[in-house]
Amino acid sequence: MQDDKERPQVLVLHGPNLDMLGQREPSLYGSATLDQIDAEIKDTAQRLDMGADCFQSNYEGALVEKLHEAIEHYDAVIINPAAFTHTSVAIRDALLMLDVPIIEVHLSNIYKRESFRHVSYVADVATARVAGFGKRGYIMAVEAVAKMVKRG
Ligand code: DQA
Repeated sequence: MQDDKERPQVLVLHGPNLDMLGQREPSLYGSATLDQIDAEIKDTAQRLDMGADCFQSNYEGALVEKLHEAIEHYDAVIINPAAFTHTSVAIRDALLMLDVPIIEVHLSNIYKRESFRHVSYVADVATARVAGFGKRGYIMAVEAVAKMVKRG
């Protein structure tokens, strides 16, 4: 589960189209770019004495392979599967192999949107979910994870 590292390590995964944040429907998703969000995530993790690795892909298989790495190398996973939330049995199955806290994050409140977004293949596999707080949701997730993985 966790390497013999000094600090807990968190894997943060972003799904398809989140590389376009800043340009993508800013009224829904905000004006921050993914690089800016990742920088805030890493700063927050560092402040809480953790490490964070952030990874984005538009490809389901690439996200699945990162989750395989998490089995050995990470103490928690924060994931915004984006559109794959509503479709991906493969991401769900990969998450089922993990024995660490999993936080599902959505920038928007998926329950205020189209009904197909109300279905999440991840929700009942995740430890908890944050939705509707914009980029602040990632920071809330990092703060929550810090409490969950505290050692000693
Ligand atoms: C999203 C919500 C999904 O329905 C959508 O497909 C996304 C982003 C969110 O962060 O609000 O790409 O996960």
